[in-house]
Amino acid sequence: MSKNNSAPVNAKNNGVPRHIAIIMDGNGRWATKRFMPRFAGHAKGVKTINKVVNACIDRGVEYLTLFAFSSENWRRPPDEVSLLMQLFRKVLIGEIKQMGERNIRLKVVGDLSKFDKDLQTMVHNAESETAANTGLTLTICANYGGRWDIVNACNKLVASGVKQEDITEEQLSANLAMAYAPDPDMLIRTGGEARVSNFLLWQLAYSEYYFTDTFWPDFDGKALDEAIESFQKRERRFGKTSEQIRAQ
Ligand code: FPP
Repeated sequence: MSKNNSAPVNAKNNGVPRHIAIIMDGNGRWATKRFMPRFAGHAKGVKTINKVVNACIDRGVEYLTLFAFSSENWRRPPDEVSLLMQLFRKVLIGEIKQMGERNIRLKVVGDLSKFDKDLQTMVHNAESETAANTGLTLTICANYGGRWDIVNACNKLVASGVKQEDITEEQLSANLAMAYAPDPDMLIRTGGEARVSNFLLWQLAYSEYYFTDTFWPDFDGKALDEAIESFQKRERRFGKTSEQIRAQ
């Protein structure tokens, strides 16, 4: 497995971010505003995923990571959890052919052991079927939590017998669930909240954060361009001074 996320990654050509991570928030409020059930917001949210995946491919983004279901989302009403699982199944069955056509490599990260066995099999099959694709790497975070990811990485290190004095940031990074990807250049959160909600806690250390009031079902290519434009205006210093950055 290639490992490439130990150091902050500059945006490609200071232009389009290589890796965008998104917290897709606001589905429920989008639906409620329209006197529709929350589920309608999630269903529309899936359509938005499709649009944003295509927009990312068109713009040359290499990695897109979506927070679909957090470890805390089990606390939602059972009906809503069950409907989200159904949608996940639908996405895995319905989109897999198109993923091949669009050269997308699908990865699903999180504690999948809590999902039904058939869903786990579907995830496994979808990952295998798309493993050789060389275009966008689309990661769906499901039953994922940043703290879970870090604790998991620590457990793997301990199990591998690594000595305490040999533990480094690079080794910890290499044992995280998304060790195959560079750290996100940009985090987008839709829906008006300005928090990280236990998403990729370790990997977001040097990411540029972009918060928008737009509800996820209303997010689209134009909204993505606005986010990218904001990203492009920022100076990523990684602890250095502006003068040092300009002299590079
Ligand atoms: C947050 O909106 C969204 C989620 C918890 C789930 C995101 C899921 C999808 C976009 C659809 C399912 C996709 C897959 C791949 C299964 P919210 O319900 O918290 O919105 P609210 O804050 O307005 O209530």
